Amino acid sequence: MKELLRRKRDGAQWTEAEIVQFVEGVTNGDVTDAQCAAFLMAACINDLTVDETASLTLAMMRNGTRLERGISSRLAVDKHSTGGVGDKVSLLLSPLAIACGLAVPMISGRGLGHTGGTVDKLESVLGLKMALSMDESKQLLREHHGFMSAATAEIAPADRRLYSLRDATGTVENVGLITASILSKKMCEGLDGLVMDVKVGKGAFMKTLDEAQRLGTSIASVAKAAGLPCTVVYTSMDTPLGQSVGNWVEMVEAEEALASYEHADPRLRRVTECLVTEMLLLANVATTETAAHAMVRSAWTSGAAHREFHAMISRQGGDWEGTLRDAQRKTVSHEVVAESSGVITVDPMAVALAVMSAGGGRLRDGDTIDPYVGVRFVLQSGDSVKPGDALAVVSGSSVEGATELQNALKRAIQIGDPKNIMPDIIDLTRPE
Ligand code: URA
Repeated sequence: MKELLRRKRDGAQWTEAEIVQFVEGVTNGDVTDAQCAAFLMAACINDLTVDETASLTLAMMRNGTRLERGISSRLAVDKHSTGGVGDKVSLLLSPLAIACGLAVPMISGRGLGHTGGTVDKLESVLGLKMALSMDESKQLLREHHGFMSAATAEIAPADRRLYSLRDATGTVENVGLITASILSKKMCEGLDGLVMDVKVGKGAFMKTLDEAQRLGTSIASVAKAAGLPCTVVYTSMDTPLGQSVGNWVEMVEAEEALASYEHADPRLRRVTECLVTEMLLLANVATTETAAHAMVRSAWTSGAAHREFHAMISRQGGDWEGTLRDAQRKTVSHEVVAESSGVITVDPMAVALAVMSAGGGRLRDGDTIDPYVGVRFVLQSGDSVKPGDALAVVSGSSVEGATELQNALKRAIQIGDPKNIMPDIIDLTRPE
């Protein structure tokens, strides 16, 4: 290992066999934390080639448990987002895609950094079981074409160990390491196709389109090398997506959006429709973009996706009505009003940090989350206001928490001149 690390330090490329040996050592403990950290730093300084990234991805994926392809009678396609603020797309997309004839084995993560996690949102529903065993996941996939679960320690265990060391050694932001980390876990779902939503902007990990495209290109190349058809969509994260940020409030927004297409937030609708359309195209469920888009629209407006949303929650033990009652009983809400006139700009990072420090996210590993902490926007970036207009409603489980969030929100919503807003869908690349 010392000799291998010396070569990596000096910029040499590792062979596939060497990467397999390294990943095995990371998984079984033969490679020490110091050696893992040395590899991570060398990979950040010298970068990994596409071949190395592909070998690392496959080795990490193979070193744990995974679902095989073909468990459902339908093609299995999933979407992965690089993370944003108010990004509740997965909650709508999964029932929509299933209603359109796909299988969606959805293994999700918890909040990472300032970004919210699908698992935390789903766990705000009382009784909803996210810690599914492989057998339970397989049964749901076979019988109902989908499940929603949290990643377990058995899935890509080497990534779990490397990820926590990346966090501690300042080596998170490397395109090759991010690619291998994301794809090794997604490829454990036994997928026939993957749509990657690479978020760009102030509330995303990738702040510029250039950085986002470097990551998107790396993911597309490695997916291709691994034989996984992958479409990459670049979407804007300069402002929160949709009308809410928080765990339970985002569940409620997703449910209400599926219940009424007309009342759903237009940006959330556009991004969701685009991503599900790409999933259908990848699986050849529809052959043209127009036909795929029409299928998605029909699954939404007919109520089929809304019914699937509730069916998925009930199948995994969730009590929707009970949570609505519990939230009503336990939450305190305050309004945030405009104090001047102008056009508003909502800073996604400031909103995310405000929600997190009010208890809606984890500041440290192991922190518990208050599911009812959240923000519901009345107005959004680009809207004009005058003094006294309601901007947002904040909620929390205590008067102090809600007041703290109300003050932080006032700072996160700036009122002034209009700013340029990026288009929702910036670019996309389909597999050749
Ligand atoms: N999400 C992951 O799972 N891994 C990364 O490295 C970044 C985002």
